[in-house]
Amino acid sequence: MKVLLLGRGGQVGWELQRSLSVLGEVVALDFDPAHNPDGLCGDFTNLAGLAETVRHVQPQVIVNAAAHTAVDKAESEPTVARLINAEAPAVLAQAATELGAWLVHYSTDYVFDGSGSQPWLETDTAGPLSVYGQTKLEGEQAVASTPKHLILRTSWVYAARGGNFAKTMLRLAGEREALTVIDDQVGAPTSAELLADVTTHAVRMAQAYPQLAGLYHCVAAGETTWYGYCQFVLAQAQALGWTLKAGPQHVKPTTTASYPTPARRPLNSRLNTTKLQSAFGLTLPHWQQGVARMLTEISGKP
Ligand SMILES: NC(=O)c1ccc[n+]([C@@H]2O[C@H](COP(=O)([O-])OP(=O)(O)OC[C@H]3O[C@@H](n4cnc5c(N)ncnc54)[C@H](OP(=O)(O)O)[C@@H]3O)[C@@H](O)[C@H]2O)c1
Repeated sequence: MKVLLLGRGGQVGWELQRSLSVLGEVVALDFDPAHNPDGLCGDFTNLAGLAETVRHVQPQVIVNAAAHTAVDKAESEPTVARLINAEAPAVLAQAATELGAWLVHYSTDYVFDGSGSQPWLETDTAGPLSVYGQTKLEGEQAVASTPKHLILRTSWVYAARGGNFAKTMLRLAGEREALTVIDDQVGAPTSAELLADVTTHAVRMAQAYPQLAGLYHCVAAGETTWYGYCQFVLAQAQALGWTLKAGPQHVKPTTTASYPTPARRPLNSRLNTTKLQSAFGLTLPHWQQGVARMLTEISGKP
């Protein structure tokens, strides 16, 4: 099997390079052409180059891990956010249809308005609050136009590689004696590792059962707030021997309203994963398991 991976340098893209390799040949592209073989284009702002690259590579599976993920910045640059999150995925969908290839794409809890307290179902009506959420929703709709698609909506992604909330909290806790963290947004931190492993499993199953094409929610089990997530990270880090000025007892909760940002974020980011787990025979691990693993990895402790 030949797999074309786009966005290989991101959190999920990096882990996909590892997990997809068991499926066959993986052509993994970065958006910087200097890092790509044979002058191939992985730049989502170059739609013609992207289409030409897919036709040249002729993959059986396209996995799109590239995105404009700077949620606040997207508010001031909606044109480029739409180009990367919606128009480029539409080009990939068109090319996938022409080739009869599978297209795997990632989306976000930010397509929802965050109302209520029930975990969102795939069939619930979207209502994005931000440019990022709106453009990701448009991207989903474009990808769903090709018959062989898998769209995984996820939330609060972290990885050992790259920057993320947990690492930022660790740095701040090393510098300050107290931290204030939002306690009214609820979701599930989900590792790039888990997403990559689920993707590879889903791609393999979808080859045999094309009726599995569709939209799925894919997040770790359980739920927390950014405040709870931060407390867990600091407690785990202390147990691993990190020296911190602020421990979990020094984290103070605050509200989204008291911490204004350019982009509005949903309060209820819970995603119901029953559809994914039953369709693909999966059990999703608790979010604390992956976070503890990532902290152990970055601490260098055995
Ligand atoms: N991160 C989250 O919390 C989160 C939550 C829900 C859903 N998701 C979705 O999950 C997927 C993977 O996210 P992630 O966390 O792995 O994001 P990420 O680490 O920000 O990776 C996105 C990748 O896209 C690249 N990119 C940016 N502009 C590009 C362009 N013009 N052409 C090609 N590539 C470009 C980025 O490169 P640079 O880093 O060099 O800019 C980066 O390598 C995305 O679809 C995202 O929307 C993420």
